[in-house]
Amino acid sequence: MDIWVVGTGYVGLVTGLCFAKLGHQVWCIDQDKNKIEALSRGVAPIFEPGIGELIAQVQSQGKVHFSTSFPASVPVDAALIAVGTPPGRDGEADLSQVFNAVDNLALHLPAGTLLATKSTVPVGTAARIRRRLLELGRSDLEVASVPEFLREGSAIEDTLTPHRLVFGVQSASAQNTLERMHSGMNSPVLVCDPATAEMIKYASNAFLATKISFVNEIANICERVGADVSQVSVGMGLDPRIGPSFLRAGLGYGGSCFPKDTRALVNIAGTVNYDFTLLRAVVEVNQRQRMSPLYRLLRWFESLEGVVVTILGVAFKPGTDDTRESPALDLAAHLISHGARVRLVDPVVKTAHVAGQNKPLPVSQDVYEALLDADAAVLVTEWDAFRNLDWTHVKNLMRGPFWFDGRNVLDPEVLEQAGLVLSNIGHKT
Ligand code: UGA
Repeated sequence: MDIWVVGTGYVGLVTGLCFAKLGHQVWCIDQDKNKIEALSRGVAPIFEPGIGELIAQVQSQGKVHFSTSFPASVPVDAALIAVGTPPGRDGEADLSQVFNAVDNLALHLPAGTLLATKSTVPVGTAARIRRRLLELGRSDLEVASVPEFLREGSAIEDTLTPHRLVFGVQSASAQNTLERMHSGMNSPVLVCDPATAEMIKYASNAFLATKISFVNEIANICERVGADVSQVSVGMGLDPRIGPSFLRAGLGYGGSCFPKDTRALVNIAGTVNYDFTLLRAVVEVNQRQRMSPLYRLLRWFESLEGVVVTILGVAFKPGTDDTRESPALDLAAHLISHGARVRLVDPVVKTAHVAGQNKPLPVSQDVYEALLDADAAVLVTEWDAFRNLDWTHVKNLMRGPFWFDGRNVLDPEVLEQAGLVLSNIGHKT
């Protein structure tokens, strides 16, 4: 099949490359000239395991093409919209890029082509797209919603072998096009209407975020009653109705999806006069959770004026260079506003935009250098590189012994043996 993918962010690029790997002819279209030039030279604009190899493979097979404009006289069976939907005021998703893509596609797509959204869009967007196409005189295009469930860091694997495919369609021919597009993927398929598909995406992310905030609340109570949240999670997860995943207590969720999608769903509910009380609390708990190292440091030092704090991990999770909504950035901003001198270290992130700073802060790639003469350290992102440090060396480098493990991955006994003091989440302190 011939597929156009509009937008070469995480979702668009990975989706396009994976369809090319499945044997389709794919055009990846993005208005960002630098991105398209780099991609044409085989350079990935994002850090994602295996992406460089995948670009090289599908490029050498002639299966993928990168362009800043819609290709003229090129066949197309389906166009996927995978542009950004950044949060606007009140958490409402800004759909200007989506409708810009719709308007452009309306000028280029031949009759009968399928136009599907891959970006996470508010429930009802497919219907709005159909109305817009009618206004533009293009009732001859099919509209569908095919939400994406990939995780950054395992995006290629998630796209090629998804746990489920959701086809939000309104006609047998749209369903048929999507089935042909995804043939070769051995995943369960749910066929539904577009609004239901759009809701499945939001409900899935909101539910996973709820699990995280739930376990973080349990962790905070564990600390006070002398229970161990790590074991509580294992014990809960053994019940197949609960399941073990997304029960890791820590500094809460970040990234470009959970924070945005939870706020957007609260907002969607609000537009139909429904107060999504539970999800509002999930968002609030998550915001509070990322500040727990600050309060622990204030308890240890009383004042943070001039205290040197090293933050380990700037990416919102390991395996990515994405810092969007990373707890590390929020924490850094609050520590700085309390007078602390913050040092940042991350295996892949090179600079960090911290609120209140007029230029990006440098991020070291050398953990020992970042710990030299530090008064305290906070592990925010559980990169493997931070798990097995030479703790005696760390103790000798640092001016003070205090460590906060925001992801419960360090062994308190090992650190204590080296003379360090470890505080973490959901264990008796
Ligand atoms: C998430 C979903 O997992 C994907 O299914 C979805 O497609 C994607 O959002 C999206 O909407 O595009 P992603 O944001 O890449 O994917 O990251 P996750 O691996 O899900 O982690 C999200 C956050 O939750 C991270 O900050 C992580 O540290 C945190 N987390 C995760 C916890 O704090 N505890 C856990 O037990 C699990």
